[in-house]
Amino acid sequence: MQNSNSIILAIESSCDDTSCAILKGNVVLSNFTANQKIHEQYGGVVPELASRDHQKNIVPVVHEALKKANMTLSQVNAIAVTRGPGLMGSLLVGLNFAKSLSLSLNIPLIEVDHMQAHVLAHFIVDAEQKIPPFPFVCLTVSGGHTQIIKVTDHLKFELLGQTIDDAVGEAFDKAAKVLGLPYPGGPMIDKFAQNGDAHRFKFSDTKMQGYDFSFSGIKTSFLYFIQKETAKEPDFIKNNISDICASYQYHLIQILLKKSKLLLDEADIKHFAISGGVSANSELRKQVKALEQHGIETYIPKFEYCTDNAAMIGIVGFYKLLRQEFSSLAISPLTRQTF
Ligand code: KG4
Ligand code: ZN
Repeated sequence: MQNSNSIILAIESSCDDTSCAILKGNVVLSNFTANQKIHEQYGGVVPELASRDHQKNIVPVVHEALKKANMTLSQVNAIAVTRGPGLMGSLLVGLNFAKSLSLSLNIPLIEVDHMQAHVLAHFIVDAEQKIPPFPFVCLTVSGGHTQIIKVTDHLKFELLGQTIDDAVGEAFDKAAKVLGLPYPGGPMIDKFAQNGDAHRFKFSDTKMQGYDFSFSGIKTSFLYFIQKETAKEPDFIKNNISDICASYQYHLIQILLKKSKLLLDEADIKHFAISGGVSANSELRKQVKALEQHGIETYIPKFEYCTDNAAMIGIVGFYKLLRQEFSSLAISPLTRQTF
């Protein structure tokens, strides 16, 4: 029997984090994630290594989430799982595990779109988060996506703009790699930028029309800039790391905010949320918060709900469960987005 107090076991395995959460309705009882350190040395996620680590992690991660929630498998009423987008091998591990649980416990399986889940992370009932009213604009910024979405209902999304090439998270990670910083580089750039001058170096602007983004040119111009400066001064990176990080980060954030403000203005929407891994960035959070001085109500997720986690998968599961939107056990992963 499923209702608004149902116990949902949620699984996320789309990239390199194996995560399991237990929810009672829209309240998170536990949210446990195993990160994969193995990719650090390669400067990016190696898909085959990610799938193998998911296989190792999935059983202990589910056990830990159940233990932290003080629950047993027999109390679970539904299984929510990421169907995509993501890496095929990684998705297969989580999805097949979820299907087996659904079959053996004889409870419904609920497929979840990972990008929709990043947005709905705002609906997790938590004292540290405020819930946005509809309609609101959500800027979803992660390692694989950069999107501006108009959200009109829990499960109704209008994708209005997105990157035509790299995601902003990639622009952070690839620049960090050029600077010799380990993967994922976003948090490292954020850390160094805190002591830097954001206006010292300038980077080329993009000419994208409307609400779409492009980051591949910026990434390349960053590489050329570093190559040119280190040819003149071999220790350029070491001597200027904070200013480089602060200036580059500032540049990326201006692009994100320019497009977001354009949409808020043109659509006359006063509620603005950010989500996805890059929404953990301290400067982005600060600049979004500052929009409140201009009459925009802002929604910034709690840190643990920014990067990949199963709690956000569970909350989509909750809204689908209320609508009895269940999935067949015959589904396979969708590496591309479904809305
Ligand atoms: O949402 P997420 O965990 O995974 C994907 O769905 O891609 O996002 C990961 C991305 C990585 O590119 C990582 O560098 C970036 O989020 N990230 C950050 C910060 N924390 C994570 N980027 C900038 N500043 C941060 N503090
Ligand atoms: Zn993600």
